[in-house]
Amino acid sequence: MAGKVSAIVTTVRRGQKYTEANRTLAARTAAALGIPNVPRGNDSLEELRAAYGVDTVLVARRGLLTLVTAEGELFFHPGMSHLRIKNLLLGHGDHLVTALGLTEGMHVLDCTLGTGADAIVESFVVGAAGAVTALESNPLIAAVIADGLAHATGDNYEMHAAMRRITVHHADALAFLRAAETDSYDVIYFDPMFRRPLHESAGMNALRVLADMRALTEATIAEACRVARRRVVMKERRESAEFERLGFTHIMGGKYSRIAYGVMEL
Ligand SMILES: C[S@@+](CC[C@H](N)C(=O)[O-])C[C@H]1O[C@@H](n2cnc3c(N)ncnc32)[C@H](O)[C@@H]1O
Repeated sequence: MAGKVSAIVTTVRRGQKYTEANRTLAARTAAALGIPNVPRGNDSLEELRAAYGVDTVLVARRGLLTLVTAEGELFFHPGMSHLRIKNLLLGHGDHLVTALGLTEGMHVLDCTLGTGADAIVESFVVGAAGAVTALESNPLIAAVIADGLAHATGDNYEMHAAMRRITVHHADALAFLRAAETDSYDVIYFDPMFRRPLHESAGMNALRVLADMRALTEATIAEACRVARRRVVMKERRESAEFERLGFTHIMGGKYSRIAYGVMEL
């Protein structure tokens, strides 16, 4: 995707045993995103933001990328899917897994990576015989979460392996789908930013500031129906008008949950 990224990358002031890893990560990230790699020196992140006229500073910390904005931080955190995987290991269900009809060996296209939590759960369920490809249109979110999936330590072996198996592309869903072959994934999943947020959560602020807020289009859903073999699924607020607008008539999910999954069976 074209467009200049307004951010810089630096390291923490002192990385102790991670100093070399942080420097390498900062250099690699700068090259990949085409952004300045700024030596940290003694400057605060606010000083660097002001000096370079950017809203976002990526910081290499303990060998992983953290994204810092005035509104909050975004970093990869495997804990977000930990409980769901634990429940699945205990034989309990997961609403997303049910909505997607996921089983071992399936190929999943997750069009909205975000924090990566759903993608990890999908990857865990489809296993090594399957595959999860995840798309993220914001280059900074894509960089931070792809870095975490590839380098952070999972809470347990299953999660760790599931994280490593996910392939991330910095891409817009419609552009990616247009270039994809017909029937090339079993299921395709969309979790766009809600038209109206459920609640303000501090942890989500940095993601909300950077996230692609566009609504899904009918053209995107039509392409997804061409590229998927079995199902196209969209998550939204239960009462959202998006389901009807985009042609989802079958709605699944927890009876008392405020979110739901629209499912198109192909
Ligand atoms: C609600 S979050 C997804 C959360 C994710 N399911 C999780 O488990 O964390 C939506 C994400 O999709 C991205 N996004 C929105 N529209 C997109 C599009 N058309 N193509 C690719 N990514 C998109 C946003 O930038 C944001 O990071």
